[in-house]
Amino acid sequence: MELSKVMEERRSVRHFNDKVLDRSIIEDILGFAILAPSAHNRQPWHFVVVRDSLKKEDIALMLADYGDASIMTTCNVIRDCSALVLVLADITEEVMDVQSVGACIENMVLRARDLDVASLWIGYILKIEKELQREFSTEKKLIAAVALGYTDHYPSKRPRKTIEEVTEWW
Ligand SMILES: Cc1cc2nc3c(=O)[nH]c(=O)nc-3n(C[C@H](O)[C@H](O)[C@H](O)COP(=O)(O)O)c2cc1C
Repeated sequence: MELSKVMEERRSVRHFNDKVLDRSIIEDILGFAILAPSAHNRQPWHFVVVRDSLKKEDIALMLADYGDASIMTTCNVIRDCSALVLVLADITEEVMDVQSVGACIENMVLRARDLDVASLWIGYILKIEKELQREFSTEKKLIAAVALGYTDHYPSKRPRKTIEEVTEWW
Protein backbone atom coordinates (compact mmCIF):
# COMPACT_ATOMS: atom_id res chain seq x y z
CA MET A 1 0.00 0.00 0.00
CA GLU A 2 1.19 3.57 -0.61
CA LEU A 3 2.54 5.25 2.51
CA SER A 4 0.05 8.13 2.21
CA LYS A 5 -2.84 5.64 2.07
CA VAL A 6 -1.48 3.72 5.07
CA MET A 7 -1.27 6.99 7.04
CA GLU A 8 -4.78 8.02 5.97
CA GLU A 9 -6.30 4.68 6.87
CA ARG A 10 -4.58 3.92 10.19
CA ARG A 11 -7.07 3.89 13.04
CA SER A 12 -6.99 3.22 16.77
CA VAL A 13 -8.89 -0.04 17.00
CA ARG A 14 -10.60 -1.03 20.25
CA HIS A 15 -12.40 -4.23 19.20
CA PHE A 16 -10.42 -7.30 18.23
CA ASN A 17 -11.64 -10.68 17.01
CA ASP A 18 -10.19 -14.08 17.97
CA LYS A 19 -7.92 -14.54 14.97
CA VAL A 20 -4.35 -15.17 16.08
CA LEU A 21 -1.52 -13.05 14.73
CA ASP A 22 1.40 -15.15 13.48
CA ARG A 23 4.71 -14.56 15.17
CA SER A 24 6.20 -13.84 11.73
CA ILE A 25 3.80 -10.88 11.31
CA ILE A 26 4.77 -9.48 14.71
CA GLU A 27 8.44 -9.86 13.76
CA ASP A 28 7.76 -8.05 10.50
CA ILE A 29 6.12 -5.14 12.39
CA LEU A 30 9.01 -4.97 14.86
CA GLY A 31 11.41 -5.04 11.92
CA PHE A 32 9.89 -1.78 10.72
CA ALA A 33 9.75 -0.36 14.26
CA ILE A 34 13.52 -0.59 14.54
CA LEU A 35 14.02 1.32 11.27
CA ALA A 36 12.89 4.49 13.07
CA PRO A 37 15.38 7.32 13.53
CA SER A 38 16.74 7.71 17.05
CA ALA A 39 18.76 10.34 18.86
CA HIS A 40 22.48 9.56 18.38
CA ASN A 41 21.26 6.32 16.79
CA ARG A 42 20.95 4.98 20.34
CA GLN A 43 17.95 2.81 19.39
CA PRO A 44 16.80 2.89 23.01
CA TRP A 45 13.72 0.71 22.42
CA HIS A 46 13.08 -2.71 23.89
CA PHE A 47 10.00 -4.84 23.25
CA VAL A 48 8.26 -7.39 25.42
CA VAL A 49 5.73 -9.30 23.33
CA VAL A 50 2.94 -10.79 25.43
CA ARG A 51 0.86 -13.38 23.59
CA ASP A 52 -0.04 -15.64 26.50
CA SER A 53 -3.76 -15.23 27.32
CA LEU A 54 -3.30 -15.60 31.07
CA LYS A 55 -0.55 -12.97 31.13
CA LYS A 56 -2.69 -10.57 29.09
CA GLU A 57 -5.57 -11.21 31.46
CA ASP A 58 -3.30 -10.47 34.46
CA ILE A 59 -2.20 -7.19 32.88
CA ALA A 60 -5.80 -6.21 32.11
CA LEU A 61 -6.80 -6.94 35.71
CA MET A 62 -3.85 -4.97 37.13
CA LEU A 63 -4.89 -1.99 35.02
CA ALA A 64 -8.57 -2.39 35.90
CA ASP A 65 -7.57 -1.96 39.56
CA TYR A 66 -6.69 1.65 38.72
CA GLY A 67 -9.86 1.88 36.80
CA ASP A 68 -12.20 4.62 36.19
CA ALA A 69 -14.71 3.77 33.47
CA SER A 70 -12.57 5.26 30.70
CA ILE A 71 -9.80 2.74 31.36
CA MET A 72 -12.07 -0.28 31.06
CA THR A 73 -12.17 -0.16 27.25
CA THR A 74 -8.39 -0.30 27.20
CA CYS A 75 -8.43 -3.23 29.67
CA ASN A 76 -10.72 -5.12 27.30
CA VAL A 77 -8.40 -4.33 24.39
CA ILE A 78 -5.46 -5.78 26.34
CA ARG A 79 -7.48 -8.90 27.11
CA ASP A 80 -8.82 -9.37 23.55
CA CYS A 81 -5.89 -8.43 21.32
CA SER A 82 -3.74 -11.18 19.89
CA ALA A 83 -0.46 -9.66 21.08
CA LEU A 84 0.35 -6.88 23.49
CA VAL A 85 3.74 -5.31 22.83
CA LEU A 86 5.17 -3.49 25.83
CA VAL A 87 7.51 -0.80 24.58
CA LEU A 88 10.30 0.05 27.01
CA ALA A 89 13.39 2.20 26.78
CA ASP A 90 16.91 2.56 28.07
CA ILE A 91 16.99 6.20 28.96
CA THR A 92 20.14 8.30 28.54
CA GLU A 93 18.52 11.68 27.79
CA GLU A 94 14.85 11.40 28.58
CA VAL A 95 13.25 13.79 26.09
CA MET A 96 15.45 12.59 23.22
CA ASP A 97 14.95 8.92 23.95
CA VAL A 98 11.19 9.19 24.45
CA GLN A 99 10.96 10.93 21.05
CA SER A 100 12.98 8.12 19.48
CA VAL A 101 10.70 5.47 20.94
CA GLY A 102 7.64 7.46 19.82
CA ALA A 103 8.98 7.32 16.27
CA CYS A 104 9.40 3.57 16.52
CA ILE A 105 5.84 3.14 17.81
CA GLU A 106 4.50 5.17 14.89
CA ASN A 107 6.40 2.88 12.51
CA MET A 108 4.78 -0.09 14.24
CA VAL A 109 1.21 1.11 13.89
CA LEU A 110 1.77 2.17 10.28
CA ARG A 111 3.32 -1.14 9.26
CA ALA A 112 0.48 -2.91 11.09
CA ARG A 113 -2.06 -1.01 9.01
CA ASP A 114 -0.06 -1.83 5.87
CA LEU A 115 -0.48 -5.54 6.71
CA ASP A 116 -4.19 -5.17 7.60
CA VAL A 117 -3.38 -5.67 11.24
CA ALA A 118 -5.37 -3.59 13.73
CA SER A 119 -3.53 -1.70 16.46
CA LEU A 120 -4.00 0.48 19.51
CA TRP A 121 -1.28 2.68 20.99
CA ILE A 122 -1.83 2.43 24.74
CA GLY A 123 -0.60 5.12 27.12
CA TYR A 124 -2.79 4.09 30.06
CA ILE A 125 -0.38 1.20 30.59
CA LEU A 126 1.94 3.69 32.35
CA LYS A 127 -0.31 3.45 35.38
CA ILE A 128 1.09 -0.02 36.03
CA GLU A 129 4.76 0.59 35.13
CA LYS A 130 6.08 -0.63 38.49
CA GLU A 131 3.95 -3.79 38.41
CA LEU A 132 5.09 -4.62 34.86
CA GLN A 133 8.76 -3.93 35.65
CA ARG A 134 8.43 -6.44 38.50
CA GLU A 135 6.49 -8.98 36.39
CA PHE A 136 8.99 -8.93 33.52
CA SER A 137 12.11 -8.38 35.65
CA THR A 138 13.26 -5.16 34.04
CA GLU A 139 14.28 -1.69 35.16
CA LYS A 140 13.81 -0.18 31.70
CA LYS A 141 11.36 2.71 31.47
CA LEU A 142 7.91 1.82 30.19
CA ILE A 143 6.90 4.17 27.36
CA ALA A 144 3.67 2.63 26.03
CA ALA A 145 2.10 -0.61 24.87
CA VAL A 146 0.77 -1.48 21.43
CA ALA A 147 -2.11 -3.93 21.07
CA LEU A 148 -2.08 -5.89 17.81
CA GLY A 149 -4.62 -8.23 16.28
CA TYR A 150 -7.42 -8.48 13.77
CA THR A 151 -10.74 -6.67 13.81
CA ASP A 152 -14.20 -6.80 12.31
CA HIS A 153 -14.79 -3.17 13.37
CA TYR A 154 -12.87 -0.65 11.29
CA PRO A 155 -13.51 2.70 13.03
CA SER A 156 -14.42 5.91 11.27
CA LYS A 157 -11.90 8.72 11.07
CA ARG A 158 -11.45 10.77 14.25
CA PRO A 159 -11.55 14.55 13.81
CA ARG A 160 -8.37 16.52 13.38
CA LYS A 161 -7.60 20.19 13.95
CA THR A 162 -6.91 22.04 10.72
CA ILE A 163 -3.41 22.95 9.60
CA GLU A 164 -4.36 26.62 10.16
CA GLU A 165 -5.27 25.91 13.78
CA VAL A 166 -1.97 24.25 14.58
CA THR A 167 0.48 26.21 12.42
CA GLU A 168 1.96 29.67 12.44
CA TRP A 169 4.09 31.04 9.64
CA TRP A 170 6.74 33.72 10.03
C1 LIG B 1 0.65 8.44 23.29
C2 LIG B 1 -0.73 7.87 23.03
C3 LIG B 1 -1.38 7.22 24.03
C4 LIG B 1 -2.65 6.64 23.81
N1 LIG B 1 -3.22 5.90 24.81
C5 LIG B 1 -4.43 5.32 24.59
C6 LIG B 1 -5.00 4.47 25.59
O1 LIG B 1 -4.41 4.19 26.64
N2 LIG B 1 -6.23 3.94 25.33
C7 LIG B 1 -6.91 4.20 24.16
O2 LIG B 1 -8.02 3.68 23.99
N3 LIG B 1 -6.35 4.97 23.17
C8 LIG B 1 -5.14 5.52 23.36
N4 LIG B 1 -4.53 6.26 22.36
C9 LIG B 1 -5.22 6.41 21.05
C10 LIG B 1 -5.82 7.82 20.87
O3 LIG B 1 -6.97 7.94 21.66
C11 LIG B 1 -6.12 8.02 19.37
O4 LIG B 1 -4.92 8.02 18.66
C12 LIG B 1 -6.87 9.33 19.08
O5 LIG B 1 -8.13 9.33 19.68
C13 LIG B 1 -7.05 9.56 17.55
O6 LIG B 1 -7.72 8.46 16.95
P1 LIG B 1 -7.03 7.66 15.74
O7 LIG B 1 -5.76 7.05 16.28
O8 LIG B 1 -8.03 6.60 15.34
O9 LIG B 1 -6.77 8.62 14.64
C14 LIG B 1 -3.28 6.80 22.55
C15 LIG B 1 -2.59 7.47 21.53
C16 LIG B 1 -1.32 7.98 21.75
C17 LIG B 1 -0.56 8.63 20.62
